[in-house]
Amino acid sequence: MADITLISGSTLGGAEYVAEHLAEKLEDAGFSTETLHGPLLEDLPSDGVWLLITSTHGAGDIPDNLQPLYDELQEQQPDLSNVRFGAVGIGSREYDTFCGAIEKVEAAVTSCGAKQLGETLKINILDHDIPEDPAEIWLADWKNLLKNA
Ligand SMILES: Cc1cc2nc3c(=O)[nH]c(=O)nc-3n(C[C@H](O)[C@H](O)[C@H](O)COP(=O)(O)O)c2cc1C
Repeated sequence: MADITLISGSTLGGAEYVAEHLAEKLEDAGFSTETLHGPLLEDLPSDGVWLLITSTHGAGDIPDNLQPLYDELQEQQPDLSNVRFGAVGIGSREYDTFCGAIEKVEAAVTSCGAKQLGETLKINILDHDIPEDPAEIWLADWKNLLKNA
């Protein structure tokens, strides 16, 4: 099993690029990673560290490729008490439902017993043309929390 499983939800690909960039940085720091775009529950380890990265679509909606996992989490309520997770949302402040998707996914994994490591990063694309930049800065601190995970 990889040290960190990165899980992305994306409609237009931006969140996938951020996930791949963060995976590269984690690998540079000596962690092994697996990056899954829109996985199902059966694709995921039920322990270890997850890094959730999703943009928001519709009106606070989860991207289509992550909706099946979200539905499974809600319907099956798997035991995730051995999972620690980090969370990165990407969205636009133009919407009242800014970064609504990461909030929903976070609530779903927390209700299954997963424990959050660090604060959620919410990237406003109106402020950041390149979302990888703030994500990389956030990752520098988040990585340090992994030592105690
Ligand atoms: C039709 C549409 C609806 C959107 N709705 C929201 C929203 O409700 N909340 C939000 O924070 N961002 C919203 N966004 C902004 C996207 O999250 C943002 O453009 C993001 O970078 C897209 O990432 P992706 O390339 O991973 O799909 C919306 C964008 C579009 C095109």
